[in-house]
Amino acid sequence: MNIVRTVVRGCGGYLPERVLTNDDLAKVVDTSDRWITERTGIKERRIAAEGELTSAMGANAARAALDDAGLAPEDIDLIILATSTPDQTFPASAVTIQAELGITHGAAFDVQAVCSGFVFALATADNYLKSGQFKRALVIGSEVFSRILDWQDRSTCVLFGDGAGAVVVEAQKLNGALTDRGILAVSLRSDGRYRDKLYVDGGPSSTGTVGYVRMDGPEVFRHAVTKISEVIGATLTQSGYNASDIDWFVPHQANKRILDGAAKKLGLDPERIIITVDKHANTSAASIPLALAQGRADGRIKTGDLVLLEAMGGGFTWGAVLLRW
Ligand code: ACO
Repeated sequence: MNIVRTVVRGCGGYLPERVLTNDDLAKVVDTSDRWITERTGIKERRIAAEGELTSAMGANAARAALDDAGLAPEDIDLIILATSTPDQTFPASAVTIQAELGITHGAAFDVQAVCSGFVFALATADNYLKSGQFKRALVIGSEVFSRILDWQDRSTCVLFGDGAGAVVVEAQKLNGALTDRGILAVSLRSDGRYRDKLYVDGGPSSTGTVGYVRMDGPEVFRHAVTKISEVIGATLTQSGYNASDIDWFVPHQANKRILDGAAKKLGLDPERIIITVDKHANTSAASIPLALAQGRADGRIKTGDLVLLEAMGGGFTWGAVLLRW
């Protein structure tokens, strides 16, 4: 027992009730189920109800994760929320979640790395837990992208959906073996030269408005497979594992073509990829924890499995986490 590792204790997800199918979208913009399915693999997405907030969805996912872990809110001393669609510019929506859960100790804050947000938030929690500063963290991704979409712009509005997912992670003293449970390797990257390829055209210090998502889709696609493959390669090298050792690849769910391209480049078995993009579309920072919750709920991800998480998003930001569940 000579090393502290960040071990996942539980996970959970929350999806708003309203389903918006590709056919529903084809009634409001010039698109078709065929185009969206062929280019992205998306069939439908969830849309938050009027007045349904990022913090409320995040709190629901957090409760599900605590239930799964068999823990109570007071067992948590750190909350990190990954979101690009907070309730307000400030305070951080994480403190609203903290209050909704009735937690009055420890700390809570937001992390903003767009679609890579959950990977960045998990890596942040990992460092706090390993340093001994906190004992148990809720790492949450929650997004209402439907409120920052230009519903006239068919090149972006078909791609995103709303939802939330959460994991409970705990600092545990372990042997430091490759076979230990917990987070084994992390790589985070960003390159601000590409910030105009995927952005929101508003903000408090620029326009004073919230703004809408703008994206150079083909350019994002062009970078995605290369950058994802590169960061996964770095993470595997750091860990000492090979792609063939991975039990479950749980990528950020942006586009099925990107996932397939990255998996092929890395030689990952397509049967070992957890895919939710068909049902959820791209829920940005929520997509990985939602996919983890799905994989746990249907019995695919088991204790002891080697799980690779990966994401890329606006900034560009990108990163990967390798963990043993
Ligand atoms: N329905 C029908 N036609 C459309 C639609 C639509 N919803 N959107 C665009 N088109 C048209 C275009 O106008 C264009 O028409 P034209 O040839 O007459 O000019 C044609 O389809 C092709 O457009 P492209 O943008 O070149 O299409 P592409 O094959 O690149 O697919 C897509 C677009 C799906 C956005 C793709 O570029 C992509 O997936 N990029 C990655 C973006 C992404 O995943 N972003 C998520 C955030 S980043 C991340 O999480 C990784």
